[in-house]
Formats: sequence, structure tokens, C-alpha cells
Amino acid sequence: MTHYETIETSTPDGGVGLIRLNRPKALNALSLTVMRELTHAAAEFDDDAEIGAIVISGSERAFAAGADISEMAALDYPDVVQADLLAGWEDLAQVRTPLIAAVCGYALGGGCELAMLCDLLIASDTAVFGQPEIKLGIIPGMGGSQRLTRAVGKAKAMDLCLTGRTMPVEEAERAGLVSRVVPADQLLDEAIEAGRTIAAMSRSAAMAAKEAVNRALETTLSEGVRFERKLFHAAFASLDQKEGMSAFLEKRTPVFGGG
Ligand code: CAA
Repeated sequence: MTHYETIETSTPDGGVGLIRLNRPKALNALSLTVMRELTHAAAEFDDDAEIGAIVISGSERAFAAGADISEMAALDYPDVVQADLLAGWEDLAQVRTPLIAAVCGYALGGGCELAMLCDLLIASDTAVFGQPEIKLGIIPGMGGSQRLTRAVGKAKAMDLCLTGRTMPVEEAERAGLVSRVVPADQLLDEAIEAGRTIAAMSRSAAMAAKEAVNRALETTLSEGVRFERKLFHAAFASLDQKEGMSAFLEKRTPVFGGG
């Protein structure tokens, strides 16, 4: 397994790849090295036929407190344009394996945006969300203004992006940002268990479900429904569809082989 400087990777059994952000002194601030390492690790897991779900977690205190402010402070407009700063995060959106964010503590700025880049967002009862970039004289740059608005609607997205206030987990769950809330000491187990559940499903069906739901954020209802139907029809070309339906009729647990 590749050695990284700012993240740790492991493979708890059951087809789950785990990526832990590991910059505790900086509350897991998302430096360019974190971006490179995390997207690399996620791509490696995505290429691994044994991995059916990827969990991204931080520490108890912080999932991530945003992009690394000390790294950005001295940058000028030409620097960020030439580097296309933060564009590399979009590589994570290209990962086809379902991504689960396990969020404990602060998920601010880029941390909130990283969590929203994931497919399931499982949060601890101590999680806090926010887009405080406005307080730094900037705006979200990893998709926050777009994904937050799609997740919770204009009213709350404007409130968070314009005032920079934080949103406690209860509010985030009510607003539809969060998939599940669990006690902090159960967060990682819950996220890995969700990963195991997904990894035990048909790999191609899980990828298709992810693609179909994400399509809803990109297109019109009629186009989306047409897109879904194509993927639904394609599922009938898989051995997993035969296995899933036979197992149901034979009253046994399906064993999906990925074919
Ligand atoms: N970048 C760099 N370092 C950070 C950081 C960040 N985003 N967030 C925290 N740190 C560092 C602090 O500088 C501090 O380092 P030192 O011990 O060396 O001084 C350490 O982490 C601990 O932080 P605090 O002492 O501030 O801890 P706290 O408990 O008092 O406060 C906090 C916690 C409320 C999260 C506070 O750290 C904070 O407000 N952080 C910045 C949040 C923020 O503005 N995020 C947006 C960043 S911009 C962005 O993300 C752009 C984008 O869209 C991608």
C-alpha cells in the first residue's frame, strides 16, 4: 500500500477502503498535499476490484477545518488562475465507487465541501458544518455554493455562505445535508458497516445507483428519468441481476459476483 504524508489508508475487512485525514495539528486543513494524496488514494481504491465502498474520515475534533489558509494567504490572482487552484478536487467526483464521509467535529469550508462531494454523509452528534470563507474575504471554492444549494436549498445556503455562521448537526440533518446522525463513539463503526453493506451489493448496480442519483443534480426530470431507465435496462445484462432475483425467489441470500 502507498505511504502517504497527510492521510492514512487501510482496508477494514468486507470490501471497504478507509481514508483518514491525518493533520491533527492543523485540524486536518486540506493542503494541496492532502488533495493530491486523498484523490490518489481514492483512485487506487476505485481501481481495486475488492473494494466496494470508500470511507473518508477525520479525527474526533475535526473532519476538516477547510482549505489550508496558511498555504493560500500569500497567493495572488495569477497564482491561483495558473494553478487552477482546487480544481484537483473534482477528481474525487469522478470516483465511481460509493464514497462515505464519516464526519466528526468541524466540517468547515473545504471540509464541508469534501463531505458534500461524498455520496453518503454520516455525521456524529458533535458535527458542525459551515462555509465560513466569507469571513476570509473569499467564497467557497470546492463546490460549496453549488452542492450546498442543491442539498439544502437557497435559503440555508445563502445564510451559511453570506454570514459564515456554523450549522449544528441537528439543523444539518433537518435541512437534508446529512444521511444519518450517530453518537461520536459509534461513527466510524457505523460508516464502515454502511460501507460493508454497500460492498456486499452488486458492484455494477451500486455504481449505477450512484450515477443515477448524481444525474438528478445535473439534469431535467424527464432526461433524468430516461437516463435512469437506460441504466435500469442495462442491469438486466448482468449476472448479478439473475443472482439477485433468483436468490429472492429461492429465499436465500444473494452472492453477487460482479458479473
Ligand atoms: N487552515 C490552516 N490551519 C488551520 C485551519 C485552516 N483552515 N483551521 C485551523 N487551523 C489551525 C490553526 O491555525 C491552529 O494552528 P496553530 O495551533 O499552529 O495556531 C490549529 O489549526 C488549531 O486551530 P484553532 O487554534 O483555531 O482551534 P479552535 O478550536 O480555537 O478553532 C476552528 C477551531 C473554529 C475550526 C478554527 O480553527 C477556524 O475557524 N478555522 C478556520 C475555518 C475556515 O475558515 N475554513 C475555511 C478555509 S478556506 C476554504 O476552505 C476555501 C474553500 O472553499 C476550499
